[in-house]
Amino acid sequence: MKLLSKFNLIVFVLFAIGGLIISDFTKGLLIHSARNEVLREAELMMASASSVRDYTASDLAPLLEQNPQHHEKFLPETVPAFAAINTFQKLREMYPDYTYHEATLNPTNPVHRAVDWESDVIRYFADHPGQKQFIGERISATGPSLYLARPMVAGPPCLECHSRPALAPAAMITRYGSDNGFGWKEGSIVAAQIVSVPMSVPIENATRAFHLLLVYILVTLFVVAVVLDLGVFFVVIRPIKVVAEAADRASKGEINAPRLASKGKDEIAALTAAFNRMQVSLAKALKMLGN
Ligand code: HEC
Repeated sequence: MKLLSKFNLIVFVLFAIGGLIISDFTKGLLIHSARNEVLREAELMMASASSVRDYTASDLAPLLEQNPQHHEKFLPETVPAFAAINTFQKLREMYPDYTYHEATLNPTNPVHRAVDWESDVIRYFADHPGQKQFIGERISATGPSLYLARPMVAGPPCLECHSRPALAPAAMITRYGSDNGFGWKEGSIVAAQIVSVPMSVPIENATRAFHLLLVYILVTLFVVAVVLDLGVFFVVIRPIKVVAEAADRASKGEINAPRLASKGKDEIAALTAAFNRMQVSLAKALKMLGN
């Protein structure tokens, strides 16, 4: 195998190992940051849903409850859950893949009954009372999505409408009936706020960025390999070839050939200078023999 081929083989093996390590590391990093970006979005949406809940409970409900209409025909706009869910519904007109649920095992409005996986999340919170949030991934109808869930605890203000039908406003019973959404115990985890954010776009972006990076790495490695090859050829191989050809000619009897040019102080220059001296010595020795 020629010197340049050996050198190229070493460079190729080094670049292949280095390239694999770098690409594996960057892929992990890009996917990780895409997931973090999605999680930040989910946290922001969760915070905005909770703000709507708080605003409704503290500012809007006290005003609406003064409306005489509320006592005849219950106004669900006074209910924090209703406000948060419906505000998010408006947001979904622009971002249809995002969802916000207040999934409940025993809901007042059956529309909010937890589906299978949501029930598991609520049960998980019930079994782990200290747990403040749960982050998971699932395949939804629109592709992979990340969900952020937070437990909802039945506090004293909630019990008016969620413990016994007798305590709830009559207008509310007229509207929702007395079969659902009651029997909640104070301090128990009754529901979970669940925000789902689609992951397909950020993951696609991360994958595209990764492919672009791979192209850059491959082009850079190729250019580096070509420059290294040129360097090795002109600095090592060509000067050695000149000495080798001269040695070949000398071995075939051409002893009075001109001296080889030797510049610099590197190993090749030392080899060329040594060859020149050897050729002179050889010529002298042959001359002495001839005499
Ligand atoms: C004034 C009565 C009232 C109070 C007080 C109240 N809720 Fe509700 N809640 C309702 C009604 C009515 C609904 C159904 C709204 C709808 O149609 O979407 C509801 C819905 C919910 C839902 C959605 C699931 C479901 O049952 O339909 C959750 C979760 C919820 N409430 C939790 C709470 C919590 C937690 C509190 C205390 C911080 C609370 N609620 C206080 C009346 C009330």
